[in-house]
Amino acid sequence: MNEKNPLGLKKIHHVEFFVGNAKQAEFYYRNAFGFSRVAYSGLETGNRDATSYVLRQNRVNFILTTPLHEKTFASEHLKIHGDGVRDIAFQVEDCDYAFNEAVKRGAKVFQEPRDISDENGKIRYAAIHTYGDTIHSLISYQGNAYGKSVSSGSMAAQPASEYVYNGAFLPHFAPSEIKGKEVGIQLIDHIVGNVELGKMNHWADFYSNVLGFHRYITFDDKDISTEYSALMSIVMSDGGHNIKFPINEPAEGKGGKSQIQEYIDYYKSAGVQHVALLCKDILKTVDKLQKNGVEFLRVPDEYYEEIPERVGEIDENIEDLKRLGLLVDRDDEGYLLQIFTKPVEDRPTVFYEILQRKGCKGFGKGNFKALFVSIEEEQRRRGNL
Ligand code: FE2
Repeated sequence: MNEKNPLGLKKIHHVEFFVGNAKQAEFYYRNAFGFSRVAYSGLETGNRDATSYVLRQNRVNFILTTPLHEKTFASEHLKIHGDGVRDIAFQVEDCDYAFNEAVKRGAKVFQEPRDISDENGKIRYAAIHTYGDTIHSLISYQGNAYGKSVSSGSMAAQPASEYVYNGAFLPHFAPSEIKGKEVGIQLIDHIVGNVELGKMNHWADFYSNVLGFHRYITFDDKDISTEYSALMSIVMSDGGHNIKFPINEPAEGKGGKSQIQEYIDYYKSAGVQHVALLCKDILKTVDKLQKNGVEFLRVPDEYYEEIPERVGEIDENIEDLKRLGLLVDRDDEGYLLQIFTKPVEDRPTVFYEILQRKGCKGFGKGNFKALFVSIEEEQRRRGNL
């Protein structure tokens, strides 16, 4: 552990969603987004409170959880927020160390460290609060059944631990395999939080004080302002630039409602706005997603006429980008291709970004304007502008 990574974070272990009908959501993520089911927890495995499905595509792990009765925290969460992200869980080098350090640095406790075990081994688990009703679980174990750490080097010389787990996922999950048709999603690139008006700096400070993150990029309302949908954003990043959490807050538009405020009005608090999923060949990935029925936002056709002048030479054919509705932006180091889904539940809350980076480390600032005009159009159709 050092000042750059004071909690000893290794990677995002998984993202857990509380949803109204996990069985149907699992079908959607498998058949539309190409995830495979790898594990299950529910009545058949002795879980009397909730059903959870674990979905995986390369290094992305999602848990979809539905409560089985009203006396659970999950049912209260679901009643207030609808479907949404409950937990951005980290794998850490040492759960107790990470937890104690986080609390010392000002984190609010959700769960003190405890052991969770089954016949396949034991893990150490704790959790802290972040914005809204969202938490960060802090999980430590060795012999992890999937993937490698993204922060290379930090695992060196780790002493043997009693916390070793070799089951399908985590304790109390049984293996349950249904292969999805992979679409090429590789990794979580960033996860964006929407917070209340005036709270952006507070939560940026939280990530800097508690997790040791730094301010990576800041966008103010001059960068991100259309007629209505003004917002401000600070991108917080860990020292190794493996974990990036942009934090958005609404800004005063010219008389309309910021898209961030619309989210907060429907989610009923701060929460995760979008999860950005990185792929290696976005033309192939988005073509498959669209054939599977995933709905994306589209920008007006004129956007594509301005690409050569705005971003210069790119490898892709502009007609292909236009056909799929892909957006492109450039910074000093290269360019990126990106596209945004419509919200994936009935409330206008959580959505996904699919992106490919070709050197560019930015977030598509050059696309904000065109994109937000499309978002406003959707907001107008929902009667929320
Ligand atoms: Fe994004």
